[in-house]
Amino acid sequence: MRTVWLAAAVALGAAAQGQDTAAGKQEMQRGCVPCHSLRLVESQRLSAAAWSKELDKMERWGAIIKNRQALLDYLAQEYPDTKPVPKPERSGDGSK
Ligand code: HEC
Repeated sequence: MRTVWLAAAVALGAAAQGQDTAAGKQEMQRGCVPCHSLRLVESQRLSAAAWSKELDKMERWGAIIKNRQALLDYLAQEYPDTKPVPKPERSGDGSK
C-alpha cells in the first residue's frame, strides 16, 4: 500500500512540474517573440543567474515579462549551461 502512495506522490510531483514548465514555455512563446526568433533564445546555454541577467536586459530593451519566475525556471531547466551547445541551424537554403 505504501508503494502505491509513493507512486501516486511521484506521479503528482511530475505532473506539477510539467505544468510549471508549460507555464514558462507559454511565457516565452508570448513574451520573447515580438522582437526576435525563439531560435536566439533556444540556442543559448546559460546558468540560472545568467538567464536572470538576460531577462533583466531584455526588460530594459522593452520586453514585457508577466510570469518571470515560471519563465526563469523553464529557461534554467531547458537551456542550462551544463547542456551541450546545439549545432547552428542554417536558414540560408530556405529549408527552415
Ligand atoms: C523589445 C524587444 C525584445 C524582446 C521582447 C525580447 N528581446 Fe531578446 N533581444 C532583443 C534584441 C534587440 C537582441 C539583440 C540581438 C538581436 O536581435 O539579434 C536580443 C537578443 C537576445 C538574446 C541573445 C543574447 C543577447 O543578449 O544578445 C537572448 C538570449 C534573448 N534576446 C533572450 C530573450 C528572451 C528570453 C526574451 C523573452 C523574455 C526576449 N529576449 C525578448 C530584444 C528583445
